[in-house]
Parts: sequence; structure tokens; C-alpha cells
Amino acid sequence: MDAPHTPPWTPPDQTRRLGVLISGRGSNMQALLEAITAGRLEATLAVVVSNRADAAGLGIARDAGVETVVVEHRGWPDRAAYDARLAEVLEAHGVSLVCLAGFMRIVGPALLERFPQRVLNIHPSLLPAFPGLNAQQQAFDHGVRITGATVHIVDEGLDAGPIVAQAAVPVLDDDTPGSLAARILVEEHRLYPAAVATILAGGWRVEGRRFVVKRDGAAEAPR
Ligand code: GRF
Repeated sequence: MDAPHTPPWTPPDQTRRLGVLISGRGSNMQALLEAITAGRLEATLAVVVSNRADAAGLGIARDAGVETVVVEHRGWPDRAAYDARLAEVLEAHGVSLVCLAGFMRIVGPALLERFPQRVLNIHPSLLPAFPGLNAQQQAFDHGVRITGATVHIVDEGLDAGPIVAQAAVPVLDDDTPGSLAARILVEEHRLYPAAVATILAGGWRVEGRRFVVKRDGAAEAPR
């Protein structure tokens, strides 16, 4: 039986409106969009936000008829002011779940407190190994035989929040950092829509660091 202090299971997300934050290529954003279009992910891509006006992903979103907003990160008094502006844009579009997809900024409390446990990130390694930049190169240089991709709930640490889903990718003898990154990316594109669907379905909670999904038929703890 659950301890009395365990948090409640999350309800299904009826809104299902995604806001995706990008800085560049936008292939994970595109994977989410394709999953929606193909009916594999029941959601709406409400807005794509970039901190860079030249992000290639903005064109992909616009071509698909998705609204885009550029919020340059320069010129704000501090990070909190920038994050508050991001939150404002996302709220104005009715976003219920924020997906970081190659967004090259660390997000802080001014955003996270407005979307509690509703900001996800995808990272190209099996966290907690190789957080930060160039994770594929880090894994290659370290000589690991298996690496992969992780979708996690964002907290204030760097690539540190509770892990929702992971996919393993073997490092092959003839890999280069580039070939390894390409195979990881294939897994990212499969993993992110699946993890988003899990979050939107509800029936999960975070216990300590662990992302726990309710088993079918598991009884709710008396509260
Ligand atoms: C991906 O490898 C993602 O895991 C990392 O940044 C990269 C973004 O690629 N956070 P894209 O912009 O989604 O193509």
C-alpha cells in the first residue's frame, strides 16, 4: 500500500497542447509533428518557440502550418525575465506540456514553476552518463559500448530530472562520433513521441527520483 505522503497519480491531460522549444535543426520537433499527423500521438502542436531566428526547425514548423514565435535570449535583464517571457508565450497558446527539443538554454524556476512536472527534455545519452553538450562525442571518447537517448522531466539541474524513457544504442567498432549520433537520433525520434504520449495519458507520479506508472488495476491509496 502507498505511504500516505505519496503524491496522487496524474490525471490524463485533456488539453494535449504541446509547446516545443528549439534552437536549431528541429528534427525532434518534426518527429513529434509527424507522430501527431500519423495519429500515433494524440496531441496538438500549439506553438514552436525558438531563441534563434535562424533555427532551421522554424521553417519546418511554418511549412506544416504550426505557429512559431522567436524569443531571442539576448537583451533580457536576467535569465528569470527571459524564462518568464517564454512561459507567457506558452501560456498564451494554451500549452499544457512543454517539450525541449534541442533548446540550447537552461530553463529555470520562472518557467518550471508555471509548468510543474510539465517540461520534458530529450538528451542523446543514457543519463546520468554524459550530461551537457556533445553527449554523443563524450560517450564515443569514453569508450562505452552502449549509449542511447533519454527523455526526462526537467528540473533545475543540468539534464538531471526524473527519467521517463530511455533507449539503448550499441557503439559499433567502426563507429565515428557522427555515425553514432545518427543512430542515436533515429531512436530519439521514436522515443520522444512515445514518452510524450505516456505523460499525456496520466496515471503516473514521481516518487523521489523515480517516474512511476500506475499498473492496471492498482488500487489508489486511501487519502
Ligand atoms: C538532439 O540530439 C537532442 O537530443 C539534443 O539536441 C539535439 C537536437 O536535435 N538535446 P534536433 O534539433 O531535434 O534535430
